[in-house]
Amino acid sequence: MNKLAIDGGIPVREQMLPIFKLELGENEFQAVRNVLESGSISRGNFREKLEAEFCNYTKAKYAIVLNSGTAALHLAVNALNLEPNDEVIVPSLSFVATAFAAEYSGLKPVFAEIDPATFNISVEDVKQKISDRTRAIIPVHYAGLPVNLDALREISQKHNLFLIEDAAHAIGANHNGTKIGNFGDLTAFSLFATKNMTAGEGGIITTNNKKWADSIRLTRAHGITASLNSPAVSGLCDVSQLGYNFHLSNLNIAVAIEQLKKLDKMNQQRKEMAVYLSNLLKEVEEIELPGAENNHIFHLYTIKLMDKKLAGKRDQILESLLAEGIQVGVYYLPIHLFSYFRNKYGTAPGDLPITETVCNSLVTLPLYPSITKNEIKDIAAAIKKVVYNFSQNKR
Ligand SMILES: Cc1ncc(COP(=O)(O)O)c(C=O)c1O
Repeated sequence: MNKLAIDGGIPVREQMLPIFKLELGENEFQAVRNVLESGSISRGNFREKLEAEFCNYTKAKYAIVLNSGTAALHLAVNALNLEPNDEVIVPSLSFVATAFAAEYSGLKPVFAEIDPATFNISVEDVKQKISDRTRAIIPVHYAGLPVNLDALREISQKHNLFLIEDAAHAIGANHNGTKIGNFGDLTAFSLFATKNMTAGEGGIITTNNKKWADSIRLTRAHGITASLNSPAVSGLCDVSQLGYNFHLSNLNIAVAIEQLKKLDKMNQQRKEMAVYLSNLLKEVEEIELPGAENNHIFHLYTIKLMDKKLAGKRDQILESLLAEGIQVGVYYLPIHLFSYFRNKYGTAPGDLPITETVCNSLVTLPLYPSITKNEIKDIAAAIKKVVYNFSQNKR
């Protein structure tokens, strides 16, 4: 068995394989140049264009472009006008912004377990977590695999709850042949650099509800309602409600418009490469591979270390993969165990045993549309080398 690079052996790769890579073409560069030359670098006319194109893409009635996915979640929850201390059910396996979406509006996030087979929120545990204060559920389409929307919609309708999808990982994914963005009451997307389509930073909310869309547009822009007397003179306006500066710049939006054109192709490439990697790894019994569901768009390619002994060495395994030249990540640590939530709500280890066990055994591997088969072979070689060394007690 080859000696691990971390122990002085020869690494699988000399040059680090990044966990993600931007897919920027000449069109994105040209679009940014055009905006720079136009002088309209902050506000400009690209926002309406992106919103219209995203509506056309998702078939949602309204799309509102914002400057982050976090802002999208924040304003989606804010639009519901809930009462302080109302409860919002969220998965603990997510980026912290999912839970902060409740916090920003003075609501309480209530953490639900995941289904260990999909890493998505457990429908059964959502049912258990519903109380008379529950007002909304925010499921996350983890890694790009859509949650069981039919079941969650049924529960929301039965209990009169709002359904807000955190679709940061799922831009371009389908549910029953229809694009995500059209199922929940509101859906929040992220355009962060690592996402399946990017603007550098950015977010989008989709909804079919005009009242919410109008209110979110106002809240995005300091609550500024209308020009008074002279629309041509800036500053003559009214402020009718509390608002924020959640505008996305024209520069970022120009990039997003180009990315949207190739989103389906990029998602298809991700899928093909994920399947290729899974084929190379299927003989490794010590790891569980992500599901091969047709509608998975592989924002992340995350494996699970199967037995307890290996999972106990997860962080050493991560370091060993890095030493082999493969950049890896942990998506995510359980949100309910971050000190902010422990201090505020008394959440503690043992609250969500399934989530905690899964989170401690996850390893996310590199995957992006332009990854080559040779690079995928390097990932598989590194995984086999590291996992076999650890499982056979060489380390
Ligand atoms: C699941 C999830 N929700 C929300 C967000 C927040 O998006 P952003 O980084 O654009 O604020 C992210 C992004 O990292 C995410 O992965």
